[in-house]
Amino acid sequence: MSELSVDHLLGIKYITKEDVDLIFKTADHFKEVINRPIKKVPSLRDITIANLFFENSTRTRLSFELAEKRLSADVVNFSAASSSVKKGETLIDTVNNILSMKVDMVVMRHPNPGAGVFLSQHVNASIINAGDGAHEHPTQALLDSYSIREKLGEVAGKNVVIVGDILHSRVALSNIFALKLQGANVKVCGPKTLMPKYIESLGVEVETNLRKALEWCDVANMLRVQNERMEISYFPSTREYVQQYGLNKKILDSLSKEITVMHPGPINRGVEITSDVADSDHAIILNQVENGVAVRMAIIYLLASKIKQ
Ligand code: NCD
Repeated sequence: MSELSVDHLLGIKYITKEDVDLIFKTADHFKEVINRPIKKVPSLRDITIANLFFENSTRTRLSFELAEKRLSADVVNFSAASSSVKKGETLIDTVNNILSMKVDMVVMRHPNPGAGVFLSQHVNASIINAGDGAHEHPTQALLDSYSIREKLGEVAGKNVVIVGDILHSRVALSNIFALKLQGANVKVCGPKTLMPKYIESLGVEVETNLRKALEWCDVANMLRVQNERMEISYFPSTREYVQQYGLNKKILDSLSKEITVMHPGPINRGVEITSDVADSDHAIILNQVENGVAVRMAIIYLLASKIKQ
């Protein structure tokens, strides 16, 4: 297969295993490109991409922008804080105005779940979801799986535990979909109050004991507690969260086998993981960041080749 089954990347739930394989194969090529002295290819010289960020972001926005520039696309950036959205303009009006300036593709991060799907039904451009509230963050899940594949050879059959705030995390949901699609075994671990009620219907097991979860897994993906999405408190105190769900070097060294530690960033050092874990050889956190650019280049390239037809 040489083309994606979709015209937009709105969530992992909408794509197939073949799409994932094609994205990874294309990302392998771009990873080689970005490690050359000249890190740029002319592939998207006639494509213009708008990055619309209605929610804060550092690494995802930079990663997309770098990916676009390394493909030689023209790039415009927009962030909600400095825009007319604050003056009451609707999302569709904002985006249609941008599209009138002849933009081909929109990368959007938005606080509302489903914002990308909504937009794709109302505007005429290819949409990439860069995170929609607590719903999906498909490019993060793809770069996470790509990083597991790079480290462990393949994703199928691997035991992956996602630890932390599953309830508010789009990274958790997209990772669950992506890992299951590729045949990994998935558990989630964290306080019961941070587990969505439907979680078992996704085919994942809940393990509330961190040590047991770590003994079981090949890979632990440690998530940040999404305080900005909480209106009430879900556990007694940060200190108690750290005692039960924080990963430190002592626990890691006491396990009967070596595991790989991942984190999507931004890390709260000393909360979900300690610095000695984040900076250890177990962690592939910076590889995830590097792979993010290659995987996003692959996704943009594959979606853009559908626009041109
Ligand atoms: C994640 C996000 O924004 O959902 N970060 C990211 O994309 N690198 C995770 C988080 O904010 O904790």
